[in-house]
Amino acid sequence: MAFPAAFIDELIARNPIEDVVGQYVNLRRAGSNMFGLCPFHGEKTASFSVAPDKGMYYCFGCHKGGGVINFQMEIEGLSYPDAVRALAKRVGMEVPEDEQYQSRYKAQERLWALHKEAARFYHSKLYAPEGQEALKYATGRGMPKSTLTTFGIGYAPDTWSSLVDAMRKKGYTDDELKDSGLVTVSKKNGALFDRFRDRLMFPIIDVRGNVIGFGGRIMNNKDPNAAKYLNSPETLIFNKRKNLFALNLAKKSKLGYLILVEGYMDAIALHQYGFDCAVASLGTALTEDGAALLSKYTDQVVLIYDGDNAGQKAAQRAIPILEKAGLQVKVLQMRDAKDPDEYLKKFGADKFKLLLEESSNRVEYQLNAIRRKYDIREDEQKVKYILEAAELICSLGSAVQREIYGHRVAESAKISYEAMKLEIDKAFKRRISREKKKQEQINLAPAKNLQPKARSIRYDNMKSAMAEETVLALIVKEPALLDQAKELNEKEFSSPLLGKVFAQLAERYCQGLEVSVGVLTDLTSEEMSHLAGILQRQDGPVNETALCDCIRTIRAEHQVSHVSSDDDLLALRNKLKERKGLKV
Ligand code: UTP
Ligand code: MN
Repeated sequence: MAFPAAFIDELIARNPIEDVVGQYVNLRRAGSNMFGLCPFHGEKTASFSVAPDKGMYYCFGCHKGGGVINFQMEIEGLSYPDAVRALAKRVGMEVPEDEQYQSRYKAQERLWALHKEAARFYHSKLYAPEGQEALKYATGRGMPKSTLTTFGIGYAPDTWSSLVDAMRKKGYTDDELKDSGLVTVSKKNGALFDRFRDRLMFPIIDVRGNVIGFGGRIMNNKDPNAAKYLNSPETLIFNKRKNLFALNLAKKSKLGYLILVEGYMDAIALHQYGFDCAVASLGTALTEDGAALLSKYTDQVVLIYDGDNAGQKAAQRAIPILEKAGLQVKVLQMRDAKDPDEYLKKFGADKFKLLLEESSNRVEYQLNAIRRKYDIREDEQKVKYILEAAELICSLGSAVQREIYGHRVAESAKISYEAMKLEIDKAFKRRISREKKKQEQINLAPAKNLQPKARSIRYDNMKSAMAEETVLALIVKEPALLDQAKELNEKEFSSPLLGKVFAQLAERYCQGLEVSVGVLTDLTSEEMSHLAGILQRQDGPVNETALCDCIRTIRAEHQVSHVSSDDDLLALRNKLKERKGLKV
């Protein structure tokens, strides 16, 4: 996104990183850096650091990092231009209007408006003559008019183009209709058709209140091949991995936790019965983005997935994703009904409340899952049950927890607590030795440890890359060193990322602009985090000799990897050895 460089520089200068971060994190100074609890992952000890002099933040726990714009993007879930706008607003700066950005933003606004119109259209059809059956279906499934209104439920008529026609009348172009995902294009003649036909429509609304897509449920079995639910495709405004159904309502709940379910109808039923904190994932497994979104509004999530095998598996997969986002997880085990919707309609809210109150924490849930795998009337299976349970229990952080669950398993297996404790201790030792081995491997292979986590920025030549990292760290600290590194060429870098950053910093230096990584704009958030990590790690004193050594290493490694024949390689090796004063 092309904002003028000078504007971005001023924006960054007027938004000191410690001030912006300080709005969200309690920072304490320690030396030249400041530390606090990372806002991006749950933690109890401060591993989140801010370096005011570098204009960068970095978390040693989750390895997120970057400049003040990256922080604004991460913390508020904003796109780059939106983060720039927010920071500009914060200090009362005017944003130079950028055509590309403007047109994208305008396109989004048009799609939001179109979706709102479409939702109105579908909703009105529910009460039109052609929607009679759909209204009967919705009512038959226990949705009163208030629910239909709150959720904006609608009906897509059983015609080929009534939505297309209605939207054209409202002034939307065919291109806009195509971009909305609400139409399909005929391969034969390019004509536009309604994507959703004869379906009950569930608008999907984001946390800002924009309609961004739809889920449509089939109501009869005319076509056995048709999907039960048809959802909007990915568009400029709809990403099913980054949004959750009903979060726009649930975020206002006073209940203090959020309930995550599988289906639209489950979320709606929960709201209707007073559990206004329910959200549903959008026809996809819970993603890290989904968990991060939840963690903005709560720190406790109750998972209620269907009682069938698929549902239980999905729950098991969701637990670590939620915990990684810093959320406390409880799991409600569905009984006597296939999903929450069915349960509520069968047994009512009070019974459901009991179920919710006895919903177990994830340890109980996982122990139960292990328990169900074995028939403990048979000795051999009972032993396996105890061993697997011991593995889980020994991984728990607190001694109290280990004792409580140890007792529980001992009771269920009808063995003494002493025997159980012995197994837990053994499992604990096995675990420690496994972890020690893992750590040893890491220590023995420091290079592997320094390899960037993201595949796209992997280092091909670790030796050169380490030198390249040091060069960048040094010139950020002391830009004048660039006078000595001038002859170094971007192409000599083994890492394209580090080379690119070097070239950009050198260019900025020549133009008299600030030499800082946080001001660079065309980097992905992974690349930015990686660079922030480098600058935090390489925080030694500035040393000209170190710079010269690094430049020499980079050049030598570059030559070795760019010689054409074996003979050349041999000659070069000899030359290098000679220079080091070794005998050939
Ligand atoms: P279910 O098949 O469990 O349906 O799908 P449900 O929620 O109980 O729906 P009802 O009660 O029969 O109406 C759970 C969720 O999976 C997604 C939808 O988001 C649905 O709410 N799904 C399901 C699809 O996206 N496509 C499908 O064909 C089926
Ligand atoms: Mn259902």
